Amino acid sequence: MTAAISVTGLTRRFGGVVALDNVDLSVEQGTTRALIGPNGSGKSTLINCVSAVDQWDGGTITLNGEELAGKNSAKAARRGIARTFQTLRLFDDMTVLDNIMVAMHHSRGYGFLSAVIQLPTYRAAEKRMREEAFELLELAGVARDANRTAGTLPYGHRRLVEIARALALKPTVLLLDEPAAGMNDAETVQLAELVQRIGRDDLSILVVEHNMDFVASVASQVTVLDNGHVIAEGTPAEVREHPEVLRAYLGASEEEL
Ligand SMILES: Nc1ncnc2c1ncn2[C@@H]1O[C@H](COP(=O)(O)OP(=O)(O)OP(=O)(O)O)[C@@H](O)[C@H]1O
Ligand SMILES: [Mg+2]
Repeated sequence: MTAAISVTGLTRRFGGVVALDNVDLSVEQGTTRALIGPNGSGKSTLINCVSAVDQWDGGTITLNGEELAGKNSAKAARRGIARTFQTLRLFDDMTVLDNIMVAMHHSRGYGFLSAVIQLPTYRAAEKRMREEAFELLELAGVARDANRTAGTLPYGHRRLVEIARALALKPTVLLLDEPAAGMNDAETVQLAELVQRIGRDDLSILVVEHNMDFVASVASQVTVLDNGHVIAEGTPAEVREHPEVLRAYLGASEEEL
């Protein structure tokens, strides 16, 4: 199997803090890997490097067989990477549907000018994109919210819209940073079903999450970070039992593991 994401010896320092220390991680094509670890262990830093939002100090990142040269997130998106952020980043004043359409416009090269001029080819493309956007909202289970202003949606729904927006970029690699944060139990189950549904041969997923039930239901493999180091790797059942993992989470409640 080819790796969709291959991270080798990745190191990222912030002044004296070594956020990632010689980290190896790979996501095989068409699979979902979860990345877990205590607060401050380097999970978001890794996502930021792989999506080329952040730069790194050492090591290599290869996406679909091509080495990522450095900080340039637009280039990463064109290579088929899409992501969500730990903190929501929707356009709150726009409708849910328009939030998805903006992502499509941007990734498919329809600029402001073509929208203003409204050439027939653009109008046809616009109609197609609107239909596609609606289908993505249906997939995410938030089609009912299509015409609502994004900022007025309950938090869990906004997170689902964010994933729909990431999918609008037609990614081959999807990075999700704590997508279940702030969700209630029902919403977390809905999210897990969505992640299971979108996982397919041509989409590989790396998801940061604390909730182990969620992790076990979506991921075949788990990498555990602690203090910038990989301390364990394996199936959800294997890492749950791993002594290093138990030690890293010492003090964490049973439900968290
Ligand atoms: N931009 C930054 N400047 C300085 N230090 C940073 C920066 N980003 C992250 N760090 C530090 O790097 C370490 C790893 O942070 P990171 O956000 O990757 O952790 P995390 O595992 O995502 O944590 P959480 O579970 O709280 O989201 C922490 O010590 C953090 O303080
Ligand atoms: Mg984080």
